Amino acid sequence: MIEYEVNGVIVPDELEPFFQHWKSPPQMEIKKKLLSGSNLIITVRDSGRLIGFLTAISDGAMFACITLIEVLEEYQGKGIGKRIMEFAVSYFKGFYDIVLITDPEKGAFYKKFGFDEIYGMHLKDFTYGKSEAD
Ligand SMILES: CC(C)(COP(=O)(O)OP(=O)(O)OC[C@H]1O[C@@H](n2cnc3c(N)ncnc32)[C@H](O)[C@@H]1OP(=O)(O)O)[C@@H](O)C(=O)NCCC(=O)NCCS
Repeated sequence: MIEYEVNGVIVPDELEPFFQHWKSPPQMEIKKKLLSGSNLIITVRDSGRLIGFLTAISDGAMFACITLIEVLEEYQGKGIGKRIMEFAVSYFKGFYDIVLITDPEKGAFYKKFGFDEIYGMHLKDFTYGKSEAD
């Protein structure tokens, strides 16, 4: 049975099956921090097993940023990502701006929920989370 929870809780170990295609996937310490630092976590569970999630950070009034959304490969294409996004957009209803970063080929997914392309800038560091001693 598929269950969605807004303001759900994720144990860091449950993120193990995710981030499979990432060039630089987060290590355990980073997973713990990103979970405790997120203002919104949406979970999707199939008989208790975490099969999808979304995280977001926000100032609580004007801006929100959807930081991660992922559905396990075997569950993709079944409308789960759509439900997650609908919950997130509804959660931040009334905010001035909800932003996210994605690849151009995934833009069509987010346009379904009213998102537009914008000009943006970022400073990326693929060595994130690694100290000089690593
Ligand atoms: C992107 C992702 C979250 C979508 O979740 P999903 O459960 O597979 O998506 P859904 O089945 O709910 O699809 C909803 C709609 O979006 C479309 N869609 C899904 N993935 C898409 C993609 N990558 N690009 C464009 N459209 C997409 C579907 O065709 C569907 O369209 P429809 O409503 O007209 O039938 C999922 O594919 C995923 O986790 N991918 C790997 C991680 C990732 O890329 N995360 C996003 C990083 S920015």
